[in-house]
Amino acid sequence: MPRRLFVTTALPYANGPFHIGHIMEYIQADIWVRFQRMQGHEVHFIGADDAHGAPIMLAAEKAGKPPEQFIAEIAAGRKQYLDGFHIEFDNWHSTHSKENTELSQDIYRKLDGARLVYKKAVEQFFDPVKGMFLADRYIKGECPNCGTKDQYGDACENCGTVYSPTKLKNPYSTLSGAKPELRSSDHLFFKLSDEKCVNFLREWLEQPGRLQPQVVNKAWEWLDGEGDKALADWDISRDAPYFGIPIPGLPGKYFYVWLDAPIGYLASLKNYFDTGKARKSGETRGFAEFLAARDTEMIHFIGKDIIYFHTLFWPAMLKFSGYKTPDQINVHGFITVSGDKMSKSRGTGIDPLRYLELGMNPEWLRYYIAAKLNGNVEDIDFDPDDFLARVNSDLVGKYVNIASRAAGFLNKQFDGKLLPVDSDRVVATAKWTMLAIDAEERIAGHYEQREFGKVVRETMELADRINEAIDREKPWELAKRPDQKQRLHEVCSDSIDAFRRLTLFLAPILPKTSERVATLLGLKLPLKWNQLGEPLHSIRQYEHLITRVEEKQLDALFEPPSEKAAMTTPASPSTDGTISIEEFSKVDLRIAKIVKAERVDGADKLLKLTLDTGSGTRTVFAGIKSAYDPAKLEGRLTVMVANLAPRKMKFGVSEGMVLAASGDGPGLFLLSPDSGAQAGMKVK
Ligand code: 2FM
Ligand code: ZN
Repeated sequence: MPRRLFVTTALPYANGPFHIGHIMEYIQADIWVRFQRMQGHEVHFIGADDAHGAPIMLAAEKAGKPPEQFIAEIAAGRKQYLDGFHIEFDNWHSTHSKENTELSQDIYRKLDGARLVYKKAVEQFFDPVKGMFLADRYIKGECPNCGTKDQYGDACENCGTVYSPTKLKNPYSTLSGAKPELRSSDHLFFKLSDEKCVNFLREWLEQPGRLQPQVVNKAWEWLDGEGDKALADWDISRDAPYFGIPIPGLPGKYFYVWLDAPIGYLASLKNYFDTGKARKSGETRGFAEFLAARDTEMIHFIGKDIIYFHTLFWPAMLKFSGYKTPDQINVHGFITVSGDKMSKSRGTGIDPLRYLELGMNPEWLRYYIAAKLNGNVEDIDFDPDDFLARVNSDLVGKYVNIASRAAGFLNKQFDGKLLPVDSDRVVATAKWTMLAIDAEERIAGHYEQREFGKVVRETMELADRINEAIDREKPWELAKRPDQKQRLHEVCSDSIDAFRRLTLFLAPILPKTSERVATLLGLKLPLKWNQLGEPLHSIRQYEHLITRVEEKQLDALFEPPSEKAAMTTPASPSTDGTISIEEFSKVDLRIAKIVKAERVDGADKLLKLTLDTGSGTRTVFAGIKSAYDPAKLEGRLTVMVANLAPRKMKFGVSEGMVLAASGDGPGLFLLSPDSGAQAGMKVK
């Protein structure tokens, strides 16, 4: 029986471009979706932008744009990433949409009708200049315990004390600098602690196959918490001004962004049905009928930071408003780059767009990420050397190699004709067919469980076996002996059959390469798992399938944008490109002494500089190798940006930037101060 799957990924905030963490999640889900389609299941893969909330409202204001325009511009930038990495959502919509407004208001009314919503006055800081209530992250002040200045409203970075923002001494709004006033306002709460919610969740969490064991444990901790860890009701309203969905019957109140965000999954699905796209993919029912159907499975892919919302609020909201609850929530860990944590807001590490702009093959990244992923909630690391090795030695050196070893002989000596496989043949390559048949079910099982690392490992082990068999048969020698023509034909035909199987095993990971192989071998598209046993007849002219990663491409990926570009990009551009003196003074420019300058192994443009900053040393990687002999730099003074956030690069962490000038022509000129300046002096 074909399954009917409604699959989503977490909706990204519409306040910035995708970073590598988003792309990893989409690749994970896309691989799983493609596998399900290859199995003959019906899949609807749905995404959307998460467009509401105070941070987006404020970001739009800062950019001098209405929020609608701001989020529309972000939305317009999505396609290049998704197409670029072959991530094929069936629909991409927005939480700022009529579908989401209707669904959110409807769900709210039903929850209210189920007596799960109540009103309570809340005392909160209010910014009298901005005229708005302040979320904790917009309040700073002095720690009530140790007196350290400029601490956020939740905890002190110096002494670690946790408090509520109203406890801060001399609090101020980070938005306007004004002293906030305590004001009271009515808020709506969703009664998560209600017995019927808790009982429902206990049962829902325990359903086998729904959640990974680590996730169930986490959810239980929250559900069973006591004292100040006890399960709290959920504040679902916000006061104007707010960019969100109005709460019916309560003028000036909006739903908190996290209420309407997951409802955005349904809104995008509804939009997909209402615009006729679902019909095109063979679904004849309407949205409501599809969603309510017993055989529809609702499956979310999310990161480990948003488990709380997805395993407690979301199922409870759906349940008590009469909707289907999620059948499966697949949680993944974070992606680190050379061991450095990526954060949602600080998308450092690898810029996915730069990756594409450098002409790097998106399937390399899909393959590498697949090789690293498993079904647990574990972080994975992007390690450039490992990336290079896996792509070049495994993907190209093992898998593609099989085709390139066999195809030429078939094209040249046998007019592209293939012999049918026959496991009784004596040639070494015949044996492996049985191994592959054996692997089929195991590999399918790994895909289902999101154990993509195991898929890759088993497939590469098979590739090793077939390459060894080819080594034993030595087709290049058989080709020299006219009496061995039949044997050569058998060996090469077997190899290509093997290659076809490996291609099907890798097809969800390598959608474009597998399509090209399909054309090469005359396989029907879209590829299906049950084509594994179909006889092959011929092979067309072989052209190389996947190129190797070059070291210099990785260097370029990890190199900072050129010094010139970095210097001409203002920190926070206003509409006319000017910045205020306050903005300029945020840049901490200092005199630094270059105490050591070294070449970096494997880097074309970089020098590693050790700088004396007057109060210690810093390491900075600078793109000035073309212009300077490192030995001549030692002892020189220059100007550095001392408060640049550290940046993880391929060769290590760069803790600042040195300033150099360049024009349209060649040449790069490091800045130097007049004599008398000393390391550590401020430049202003
Ligand atoms: O954490 C985030 O990036 C949220 N924008 C995820 C929302 S997922 C769903 F609820 F929409
Ligand atoms: Zn403190």
